Amino acid sequence: MAKILITYYSRGGNTREMAKIIESAARQVAQTEVTCQEIDQVKVDDLLLYDAIIIGTPVYYGTMAAEIKKLIDDSVCHHSKLAGKIGGAFASSGNVGGGNETAIMDIIKAQLIHGMIIPGSAQGDHYGPVSIGKPDDRAMAQCQKFGKLIAKLTVKMFG
Ligand SMILES: Cc1cc2nc3c(=O)[nH]c(=O)nc-3n(C[C@H](O)[C@H](O)[C@H](O)COP(=O)(O)O)c2cc1C
Repeated sequence: MAKILITYYSRGGNTREMAKIIESAARQVAQTEVTCQEIDQVKVDDLLLYDAIIIGTPVYYGTMAAEIKKLIDDSVCHHSKLAGKIGGAFASSGNVGGGNETAIMDIIKAQLIHGMIIPGSAQGDHYGPVSIGKPDDRAMAQCQKFGKLIAKLTVKMFG
C-alpha cells in the first residue's frame, strides 16, 4: 500500500475544504492508504511513516502559516530521512495574486531540501492547487486532479 499524508492548517475552513477534496480523490486510486490530518495532530516522527507528504496552507503575508513552518523546522531532526518521498503543496489566499504560488513554493523548497520528489503539472495549477477563498468549481477540479496525480505517482513508486 502507498501511504499518503495530507496535512494542513486552516482557520476559516478554505484550506481544510481543499484538503478533503484532495483526500477523497487520492482515496479513489487503488492501493492507497490516505491520512488527512490538521497539522497540530501530526507529530514530527509521523513524517517517517508516509511515502508522500502533502501540505496545505492559507497564505499569510505571502507565505505559509507559522503552524506549517513549525513542523517543517522541527523536521530537521529527520534531515535526510525524508529523501526520496513524494512531496507537494496547496494553498488558499484571500486575493488573486495574493501569494498562493509563493506560499506553495516556500513549502516545496523545504521539501526539496529534504530531498523529496515533487511532481508538477503541465496544465492548470502548475505548482499545486490554489484557491481564492472558498474553493470554487475550478479550484475543486484542480484539487481532484492533484489528489489523483499524487496517489498514482505514490502507487507507482511505492505501491
Ligand atoms: C494573518 C493573515 C494573513 C493573510 N495574508 C494574506 C496574504 O498575504 N494574501 C492573501 O491573498 N490573503 C491573505 N490572508 C487571507 C487568507 O489567506 C485567506 O482568507 C485564506 O483563504 C484563509 O484560509 P483558511 O480558511 O483555510 O483559514 C491572510 C489572512 C490572515 C489571517
